[in-house]
Formats: sequence, structure tokens, C-alpha cells
Amino acid sequence: MKQEILKGFIVIEGLDGSGTTTQLDNITSFLRNRNISHIRTFEPTDRETGLLIRKVLAGQIPLKQETIAYLFAADRNEHIFGEKNGIIELLKTNRYVISDRYHFSSIAYQSINSDPLLVEELNSRFPLPEFLIFVDVPVEECQRRINMRNGAVEIYDNIDYQRIVLENYNKAIGLFAESQMKVIRVNGTKSAEEVTGEIISAVFSD
Ligand code: TYD
Repeated sequence: MKQEILKGFIVIEGLDGSGTTTQLDNITSFLRNRNISHIRTFEPTDRETGLLIRKVLAGQIPLKQETIAYLFAADRNEHIFGEKNGIIELLKTNRYVISDRYHFSSIAYQSINSDPLLVEELNSRFPLPEFLIFVDVPVEECQRRINMRNGAVEIYDNIDYQRIVLENYNKAIGLFAESQMKVIRVNGTKSAEEVTGEIISAVFSD
């Protein structure tokens, strides 16, 4: 896959329970403390398209798996190209735009129950981030953390499913091995502070 790279765009990915949200909290406070302009964002978004996806994930709306893959791509299209606060627009005024999940999530999750080629095709036109941070945590540890959280169960919170998601993440990252995107893989079983430190020195060291 050959896709344009967006300078200043950073994506963080990982299994459910891998701690991406905590890492984003830490990274954004680091940037805030240094007055480095940035915007934090996420997928599924909080736009209408993303809200619809959240209802599907909560099991409130039954849809064909392929339809879900299309919805994620539609939400992403607005997220990246949207005229109002789309990522490309935001990069014009901010040094960094950091997203909790991007199309690597679709390749990892939607390829399980939909044709992987369809998922790849739906996502083949989105530009790549300058940095992809992958927070690597074993499936069992993610599951333990999710169980401790006691939150609402989403349709993808299942250990066997998560095992395949992890395998697919590795394949997804492999798809872009020839690109200029920089992949930072961190061991997410270390303390949150250590993980943040590794990310910061890999991404913001200049
Ligand atoms: P997220 O909001 O990161 O999880 P949480 O609500 O637990 O913080 O993502 C919600 C779920 O959506 C997560 O299980 C991953 C899934 N997802 C996909 O299946 N495909 C995608 O393209 C994206 C962006 C997320």
C-alpha cells in the first residue's frame, strides 16, 4: 500500500486494555507543559458517524459486519478530510495532531469478520501518520485490566477475538513496512510512566 504521510500526525494503537488512553493523557500533558501546540483526537469520533458506531459497538443496532467496516471508513473520512476540524485542517495550525486509533484498528478488527481485502480497499486512500505508536501488551494482561475496570462490555471484548486482533495488528503494521511511516512499538507492560518516557524520547526528542 502506498499512502501519503502527514507530518505531525501521530497515531496510537493497541488492544482494548493496552493503556492507549492513559498514554495519550500523559503525552498531551507533556506537550501542554512545554507549550507545544497539539490537538488530541480519537476514533470512533464524536461526530454523528462515530456516535452511530458507538451504538453498534454497544450492541444496540444490529448491522452486517461489512456495513460496520463501511461505517468506520466513513467516520474516518470525515475525521481526516472534514472541512470543520478534520485532521488535515488541524495540522495547518497545530504542530501535532494525535489520534487514539486510526485505520490500523479497522485492519486489525474488521478484517476478522469481513473480507480483509474489502477492509484494505476501504482504507487504502487515507494518508498515513508520521508516527504510529503501538502499545504492546499480552492479550491476557489486557483482559485482566478490562475486567478490573467493570465498564460496559462492548462487542469486541472477548479474549479469543482479541488474540486474532493482535495477530492482525502485526499484519497491519507489516502492510506499511515499505512506507516512510515511523513505527514505535513500546512494551506496555512496563509502568505507565516508563512507557510514556519511551514514547516521548522516540517521538519528541528533537
Ligand atoms: P475505543 O474507543 O478505543 O475503546 P474504549 O471505548 O474501550 O476506549 O474503541 C472502541 C472499539 O472500537 C474498540 O474495541 C476498537 C474498535 N474499533 C474497530 O473495531 N475498528 C476501528 O476502525 C476503530 C477505530 C475502532
